[in-house]
Amino acid sequence: MHHMLFTPSTFLVAASLLPGSALAHWTYTNLIVEGEVIGEPYQYVRQSNTSNAPLQIVNSTDMRCNSGGSSGTALGTETLTVQAGAELGFKIAETFGHPGVQQVYISRVPEGVPAPDYDGSGDWAKIYAATYRLAANATAADPEPAIDPSNGIVWATAKTHSFRFLLPAELPAGEYLVRAEGLALHAAHKLDNAQFYVGCAQVLVESEGGAGVLEPLVQFPGAYDNTSPGVLIPDFWTKIRNYTTPGPALWPEGTDEQHVVKTLDGEVP
Ligand SMILES: *[C@@H]1O[C@H](CO)[C@@H](O)[C@H](O)[C@H]1NC(C)=O
Ligand SMILES: *[C@@H]1O[C@H](CO)[C@@H](O)[C@H](O)[C@H]1NC(C)=O
Ligand SMILES: *[C@@H]1O[C@H](CO)[C@@H](O)[C@H](O)[C@H]1NC(C)=O
Ligand SMILES: *[C@@H]1O[C@H](CO)[C@@H](O)[C@H](O)[C@H]1NC(C)=O
Repeated sequence: MHHMLFTPSTFLVAASLLPGSALAHWTYTNLIVEGEVIGEPYQYVRQSNTSNAPLQIVNSTDMRCNSGGSSGTALGTETLTVQAGAELGFKIAETFGHPGVQQVYISRVPEGVPAPDYDGSGDWAKIYAATYRLAANATAADPEPAIDPSNGIVWATAKTHSFRFLLPAELPAGEYLVRAEGLALHAAHKLDNAQFYVGCAQVLVESEGGAGVLEPLVQFPGAYDNTSPGVLIPDFWTKIRNYTTPGPALWPEGTDEQHVVKTLDGEVP
């Protein structure tokens, strides 16, 4: 008879392999503005038609706004007016229960198209990335991750239910899709097994003289491929000791990745 040693990671892996298991999955339900959860679930965030199932095919058009999220019209998704420079955020119905990162992208709705009709096929800039907590001896030049001996890199949003980020003050006025992307890495050492959780909110940005030019720009699909660093990781997640997020540099130029996450409950170091 085998003697089995159950480590915390054994349980996580076992749970993720249960048939039909949606344990540790999540969906973005609400926008947060200046620390307040806005509206009903899915009032301003397009709801997918696959519950909280993740995406794994990075070249699918579903990577834009999730399965069933190419339009907000049939879903009745509303467009929230926000100010450039405001602090926004996303709340989920569950918990960020898998190791990995959270990123936010933004795409201008084309002229003459109502926000709910925009499918996200245009250009996107990345405005936020929450990665890992920093090691005590990390420096700006060498932002080494904090390491937990049994679980490896300590992820900044682990076990939280929300994150908050700044809408850049230089964002020009207009309608936008704001795309939350969670990237879960617990199986990402296998090709096409990184899990993407995506939700698009519709916003009308009011901006006093916001004259920024969004760049660099990417499209979905196209921004990642299935072997991009950060999508395919070189070893099992508990074993990696560094991590590079996939996708373009953050906009505005000079914006840094976040290692401390502001949630609804406060700051999580
Ligand atoms: C996406 O990539 C897979 C291989 O990973 C390929 O089979 C499929 O045809 C591609 N789809 C598109 C739309 O390019
Ligand atoms: C969900 O929406 C997609 C389009 O993104 C469609 O192809 C698919 O059939 C829909 N699935 C369900 C279960 O309604
Ligand atoms: C930080 O400490 C770890 C060991 O605890 C060491 O491996 C690493 O090289 C150190 N990093 C820096 C930037 O000093
Ligand atoms: C990052 O980790 C990989 C193994 O996971 C290792 O091969 C590589 O040397 C590391 N890179 C740096 C810059 O530490």
